[in-house]
Amino acid sequence: MSSAPCSEGVQATNDDASECKRCAVNLGYWEDRYISLFVKAGERKTPEINRGYYARTKGVEMFIDKFLKKSGNECQIVNLGSGFDTLYWRLKDANKNVTNFVEMDFPSVTAKKCYLIKRSKDLLDKIHVEDGEVRLSATDLHAGNYHIVGVDLRNLHEVEAKLTESELKFNVPTLFLAECVLVYIDAPQVDRLLHWIATTFPLALFVSYEQVNMGDKFGEVMLRNLRARGCPLAGVGACQNLDTQRQRFVAAGWDGSLAWDMVEIYSALPGADRQRIERIEFLDEQELLIQLFQHYCIAVAWKNDIFSDMDIT
Ligand SMILES: C[S@@+](CC[C@H](N)C(=O)[O-])C[C@H]1O[C@@H](n2cnc3c(N)ncnc32)[C@H](O)[C@@H]1O
Repeated sequence: MSSAPCSEGVQATNDDASECKRCAVNLGYWEDRYISLFVKAGERKTPEINRGYYARTKGVEMFIDKFLKKSGNECQIVNLGSGFDTLYWRLKDANKNVTNFVEMDFPSVTAKKCYLIKRSKDLLDKIHVEDGEVRLSATDLHAGNYHIVGVDLRNLHEVEAKLTESELKFNVPTLFLAECVLVYIDAPQVDRLLHWIATTFPLALFVSYEQVNMGDKFGEVMLRNLRARGCPLAGVGACQNLDTQRQRFVAAGWDGSLAWDMVEIYSALPGADRQRIERIEFLDEQELLIQLFQHYCIAVAWKNDIFSDMDIT
């Protein structure tokens, strides 16, 4: 399938996210020894953006930890639209073991990531290679339990083939992550992807971070700004409220779903760490941060009741 006309703008969102993460990491919001290997330092972002990325990264991590605790010894992670995310290496450093880890993004994005990994001893050294074999093409990398594959997530045949090539097992507990990804894909195509995952993986957890409450004035301004940057949100229909976020999973065959806005997620993060990061930069006024937090959310959905206990309180 050819890429949609807006796909260049969509792929560029990875550069933006990586730059923002690097900025917040440099300022000390959280630790990530690897992000600077993927992206150069850009302009300093506003304190609201830095705090937003802190809440996003730590919020998603909170659910990754819950998944790892519930899954036991054998588990897999599939990072959809992974961009330059460094999760594989961060989990390694934290001694959190995953049997198989697959990253998927457009081939043009994975090609850049493969190239950067090939050049970096720090990144290569951490990739677990039992048989010493690293299979590399221009866009894909298969090495031990780490795989990067170039694929358009709207093409299910390709998604399935690439997961099989990555030796993903369908009957092992599997976490699907989508951080600011589904919103760029047309609703019927997201529905088909979610339905395929729900019917293929009997033991799965999905964690999605993206926009919510997009029907109000603030949401309209966000949408207009993104459109002006060549990046319309094709999947914004699911971002109307927390209920629409949950419903699309249930309608696609998931056993259950929960969603929280980032005001709630931020409050659920460890208090000592919140106090630490609140001292990094002064906020002129809280109002803008709260509005930002009200317009992003984390939705989770599960197949099998072992993952139903995902509450944040
Ligand atoms: C905002 S970036 C987020 C990157 C990463 N998840 C993160 O949080 O740092 C969105 C990513 O989704 C990818 N993406 C969007 N639509 C996609 C599609 N149809 N197929 C593959 N990747 C897609 C983009 O190329 C981009 O890398």
